[in-house]
Amino acid sequence: MELFLDTANIEEVRQGVKLGVVSGVTTNPSLAARAGTPSFRDLVLEVCRLVPGPVSVEVTALDAGGMVRQARELAGWAPNVVVKIPVTAAGLEAISTVSKEGIKVNCTLCFSVNQCLLAARAGAAYVSPFVGRLDDTGHDGMAVVRDTVEIFRRYNIATKVIAASIRHPLHVVAAAKAGADIATVPFKVLMQMLHHPLTDIGLSRFLEDWKAAGLEFELPVGGH
Ligand code: G3P
Repeated sequence: MELFLDTANIEEVRQGVKLGVVSGVTTNPSLAARAGTPSFRDLVLEVCRLVPGPVSVEVTALDAGGMVRQARELAGWAPNVVVKIPVTAAGLEAISTVSKEGIKVNCTLCFSVNQCLLAARAGAAYVSPFVGRLDDTGHDGMAVVRDTVEIFRRYNIATKVIAASIRHPLHVVAAAKAGADIATVPFKVLMQMLHHPLTDIGLSRFLEDWKAAGLEFELPVGGH
């Protein structure tokens, strides 16, 4: 399973990419608003420059024509832009139009398997079931991921499943077990996945023992 960062914060993107574990980024209008940029376009261009993979950027129009116009514009900003389009009737119409033009779409705000299936049939390259928001309402968000993956595999549907609205590290493990192609995680969750108190304790013990023995790490002068 690949890991994307769910953020529009440039510093978070920079740090996540530096670790070498992030292969894409997803944004949405709320995340872009939180980034506090004066220029949405400049923000997107900078994220696309930093990220070695797809960057999902969302349309804000609600009608099909407006979505299509915005999708064409966004797709022209950088070669790795993936256009995020919500799963509404207008959204499906827009997805089927722009997908035929070769524009990659991430169909967003999916809360059911049927919505994911419709998005795939319209031509979306990715679908994003929102796990955490479903869990918040007392539903099993990961079941939508699991069932969508199973159906896409059974019918050889190439659309990739992005487990989105990930809230904690156990969601990431569950998404991987459910067969999601990608989990898009907030930076905070990426750090939670990394840190473990036993790693910190183990590391300081190793170094205490090393220092107590008076050992030194000798590197050749002028070495790499
Ligand atoms: O990728 C979708 C994600 O941004 C939604 O997450 O935490 O706002 O439900 P959240």
